[in-house]
Amino acid sequence: MVNGTTAGVQAMIMSACEPGDKIIIPRNAHKSTIGGIILSGAMPVYVQPEINEKLGIAMGITEESLKKAIKENPHAKAVFIINPTYYGVASDLKSLVRIAHRHEMAVLVDEAHGAHMSFHNDFPLTAMEVGADMSAVSTHKTAGSLTQSSLLLLRGNMISPERVKQVLNLTYTSSASYLLMCSLDIARKQLATKGSDMLEETLRLARIARMR
Ligand SMILES: Cc1ncc(COP(=O)(O)O)c(C=O)c1O
Repeated sequence: MVNGTTAGVQAMIMSACEPGDKIIIPRNAHKSTIGGIILSGAMPVYVQPEINEKLGIAMGITEESLKKAIKENPHAKAVFIINPTYYGVASDLKSLVRIAHRHEMAVLVDEAHGAHMSFHNDFPLTAMEVGADMSAVSTHKTAGSLTQSSLLLLRGNMISPERVKQVLNLTYTSSASYLLMCSLDIARKQLATKGSDMLEETLRLARIARMR
């Protein structure tokens, strides 16, 4: 993607939802999610994230709050999850995916802040690792590519690749920047060959910063 994870998030929602379809969304979703709802004509069903009173920040969503939203909206088409949030908080994604799939709802994941996570074992599991249907990933935020370059990931058969292509043809430039695409490819190579070592060093520095 050469128009950020914003375009990826919008494409996920427009691929999964027709106008009037319900989609379950955490209340602390980024404005790109609200944009995706407006563009698709989907109806949001909001789930309140937990609040950490000590830190004063919104956390992830719990299994209980998802189960309640599904019970009250059994015909919702999709569940939208942030992994991790802007503050680095990850929910129990594996359980949330299992619950949503049990009710035949697609799982769309905003991984704007999680591009690095699958390259070191000390990070939370990613959407693709736990069987979510789509994920939008800001490679430019935490994995070293140029600003605006992102990845849109798709797996399984709940959402058709053809539908995703059609949506992207509606919203996306037909002259994607080679500069941005090259930087994505170089970031991909760097993650594959050196990602684990670089993240080990990042974690070491983060621990020192936290201690100080
Ligand atoms: C949680 C979240 N989702 C989506 C986005 C959109 O990503 P981008 O800036 O790559 O369009 C952001 C950007 O800050 C974000 O914080």
